[in-house]
Amino acid sequence: MKDWEKGIIRKVATEEQLKERIKELGAQITKDYENDDAEFIVVGILKGSILFMADLIREIKRPLKIDFMEISSYGDEFESTRDIKIIKDLDYSVRGKNVLIVEDIIDSGLTLKKVLQLIGKRGPKNVILCTLLNKQVDRVVDIDVQYSGFEIPNEFVLGYGLDFKQEYRNIPYIGIMDLELYEKED
Ligand code: IMP
Ligand code: MG
Repeated sequence: MKDWEKGIIRKVATEEQLKERIKELGAQITKDYENDDAEFIVVGILKGSILFMADLIREIKRPLKIDFMEISSYGDEFESTRDIKIIKDLDYSVRGKNVLIVEDIIDSGLTLKKVLQLIGKRGPKNVILCTLLNKQVDRVVDIDVQYSGFEIPNEFVLGYGLDFKQEYRNIPYIGIMDLELYEKED
């Protein structure tokens, strides 16, 4: 049997810390929109956001709908190709609705910038951004992040939805990958 945690050096967020923080985020979002009767739609950015989205929506105590968008920007490499394409667009209209975008991690910000521009043009009432992880040091464009789970250092993280070469998404915590281990093998 292969080691499913191969190359993970340390944890940056444990299962307990994730659970606790997501509960707080959900409570804050619930409170911030409790007097807003506009339709509320939660948009997950595939595939990295799925575990976070599943846990977060259970902590948002209000009627809501979910939708997904898939963007390609990273490929299997560590560096963004800066070539951002929409692979899967939303199923529903966002016109007049509050749109909560749920992302796994914001790094350069280029992916989210593109998503925000696109959704912004479709006449939503409000576009709100919630990211589990925020890697501020790498930011190359300015974006407003309303809700952020954890500020993280400039290292390659994985688990809880985030991948390394499409694997490790099922790791229940957020870990740091030893990239040198893979460089040695290649
Ligand atoms: P950005 O456009 O540079 O902000 O890239 C955001 C996307 O890159 C995220 O949605 C992730 O899919 C991916 N990404 C950025 N940093 C990491 C990381 O440390 N681990 C795994 N994926 C990452
Ligand atoms: Mg992503």
